[in-house]
Amino acid sequence: MKRVITYGTFDLLHYGHINLLKRAKALGDYLIVALSTDEFNALKNKKCYFSYEKRKALLEAIRYVDLVIAETSWEQKRSDMHQFCISTFVMGDDWKGKFDFLEEEGVEVVYLPRTPEISTTRIKEDLELLKNKE
Ligand code: CTP
Repeated sequence: MKRVITYGTFDLLHYGHINLLKRAKALGDYLIVALSTDEFNALKNKKCYFSYEKRKALLEAIRYVDLVIAETSWEQKRSDMHQFCISTFVMGDDWKGKFDFLEEEGVEVVYLPRTPEISTTRIKEDLELLKNKE
């Protein structure tokens, strides 16, 4: 069985996320999403609208996702590759080149093109604009 993993925050789940997860699953048989915890996001100066538990429940409801685990640090990736017997590591191409070092752990590293125009940040900005127009 070919196991694929991807990492992210996935706040305010949108179609860019779904496209990424669909293509990631198509690269193997079993897709694991390592989801940033609220504590890890705080370290990155990122604040989510939905809590970790809510973001996890949303991801678990997606047909392409087989397992959601917690992402709590930058360092865990190397050991995750072995713990979860990963064949392929996938990220959107905004991370291009950043995780090539994982090839040293014997996994294939793939960067998929991002879906244009949509992002969690964009949704938040657009909603703010809408609110100000009212
Ligand atoms: N992603 C994508 N296409 C988009 C938005 C995100 O393929 N339009 C991918 C990212 O490249 C990443 C994963 O989805 O591999 C999770 O991204 P995340 O950072 O959680 O989502 P963003 O919408 O990019 O959030 P933000 O604006 O907070 O960075």
